[in-house]
Amino acid sequence: MEEIPDKSVHLAVTSPPYFNAPFDYKDLFENYDQYLDVLGNMAKESFRVLDEGRIFVLNIDDMLVNGDKFPIVADAIKIFQQAGFRYRDRLIWKKPDGYLRISRRSGVILQNPYPMYFYPDNLLESIIIFQKGKFDYKSISNEVREKSKVDTKEIQNNKWYMTLWEMNNVMPGSVLEKDIAAFPEQLPYRAIKLFSYVDETVLDPFAGSGTTMKIARQLGRNSIGIEIKKSLIPIIKKKAGFDGQKTLTPNDDTFEVVERPTGWIK
Ligand SMILES: C[S@@+](CC[C@H](N)C(=O)[O-])C[C@H]1O[C@@H](n2cnc3c(N)ncnc32)[C@H](O)[C@@H]1O
Repeated sequence: MEEIPDKSVHLAVTSPPYFNAPFDYKDLFENYDQYLDVLGNMAKESFRVLDEGRIFVLNIDDMLVNGDKFPIVADAIKIFQQAGFRYRDRLIWKKPDGYLRISRRSGVILQNPYPMYFYPDNLLESIIIFQKGKFDYKSISNEVREKSKVDTKEIQNNKWYMTLWEMNNVMPGSVLEKDIAAFPEQLPYRAIKLFSYVDETVLDPFAGSGTTMKIARQLGRNSIGIEIKKSLIPIIKKKAGFDGQKTLTPNDDTFEVVERPTGWIK
């Protein structure tokens, strides 16, 4: 993130790679400490680039690896606090019950209906809200405030006001998100509407398929995505609508790739 100037970002939304998730990121990190170091560096840099009073929305959850659960949520909260953030809220994302078809851990108790065979399936992830200091509401002009107004019906009809957000997960067979643990568009959609104003800049330090960038563009915000896998550039371009096809967005905005010679993974 060295390329990004101090205090130039107005919101960060991201989901880091799952720590050595058996399906998606098996053995990506040498050990848990290395994983926490990556989170720590990202938190420190995000604190630097975020403007005063602004929000970081972190989608993360504890991870089960070889039968042991790693307390990632608790550790991430501590890491973000150490980087200077205030811990503001924890929302729970509930996936639909049908998601359980993917994970069959709970079958153990059904096959062995006796004590000690209980291994629940996980339908939940956390969405943690951090803030850099306090926001100065007077710093936003009336015009920008009105242009960014959130529809109260949308908030009420979809129950955004609760700490439980029920959202569909991205289906495993989705083409653009193949082999990427993408989050649903609803997640950055809500975060961007609730925590940024039009024409501001949204950062995703683990861009993946570019879901945050796509929604930022749709909602009239700029975005910066950091991604270590070079092979995802065309995916991000396509998803965000920068692959040469006409999009619904009427503006003439541009897409720039800043390459770092080292650090890419094919
Ligand atoms: C969980 S995915 C993000 C998915 C994204 N939210 C989406 O909707 O497509 C995490 C991404 O972080 C990337 N990544 C892992 N380590 C990284 C690093 N050190 N710097 C930048 N990106 C990294 C992975 O390649 C992966 O694409």
